[in-house]
Amino acid sequence: MPRPFPDLRDLLVKIEAISVNPVDTKLRAGAQLAGPPILGLDAIGTVESAGPEVELFEAGDRIWYACDATRLGSYAEYGLVDERIAGRRPVSVSSAQAAALPLTAITGWELLFDRLKVPESGGNGQSPLVVDASGGVGSILVQLASKLTALTVIGTASRAATQTWVREFGAPCHRSWHTAPGSIYCCRH
Ligand SMILES: NC(=O)c1ccc[n+]([C@@H]2O[C@H](COP(=O)([O-])OP(=O)(O)OC[C@H]3O[C@@H](n4cnc5c(N)ncnc54)[C@H](OP(=O)(O)O)[C@@H]3O)[C@@H](O)[C@H]2O)c1
Repeated sequence: MPRPFPDLRDLLVKIEAISVNPVDTKLRAGAQLAGPPILGLDAIGTVESAGPEVELFEAGDRIWYACDATRLGSYAEYGLVDERIAGRRPVSVSSAQAAALPLTAITGWELLFDRLKVPESGGNGQSPLVVDASGGVGSILVQLASKLTALTVIGTASRAATQTWVREFGAPCHRSWHTAPGSIYCCRH
């Protein structure tokens, strides 16, 4: 593929790390593919150049983002992203670790704060049920709720290992249904 050209508010990004997300398999099935089939939604990379209307980033900035699914994906040497859906990548984790986060984190964040409208530090006395709390979205949502809200999270996981993992995300867990604010409870499916 030729190197893409950044227009308007696009960033040309040299891709450093990507993730494999279950939704890639759905896109690969063909329903939403338009044009050359470059899959991949999550990306970590460095801004190589910027379109003429870019205001927020410049060459050399290290960023992360989840691609717009209607454009070419991230499984490539170079990609384009509108600067308005990119952010500066965290430096506390490796590129590979950071690449696992954008889409699951956006989904978990939007569920909690945009759709359910849980106030940050709020939700005391309320208990969301997170089905598949060990999954990509569930594991992030439980951690966001644990760190940023007072919700009492009830999650499900089917295996001993995933139950333990989910409990490790937050406050001490109790097997009984006597709930305490800010706790995480985990049970079998
Ligand atoms: N991943 C994303 O970025 C994303 C973004 C937007 C929307 N979504 C949607 O969110 C939903 C969850 O996606 P996800 O990516 O979080 O899923 P996922 O990571 O694939 O979830 C895997 C978890 O589901 C459990 N599981 C697997 N097979 C199962 C089965 N046969 N019966 C019951 N549980 C089973 C397993 O946990 P246990 O072994 O502990 O049971 C496993 O850890 C999907 O509908 C997806 O389309 C995902």
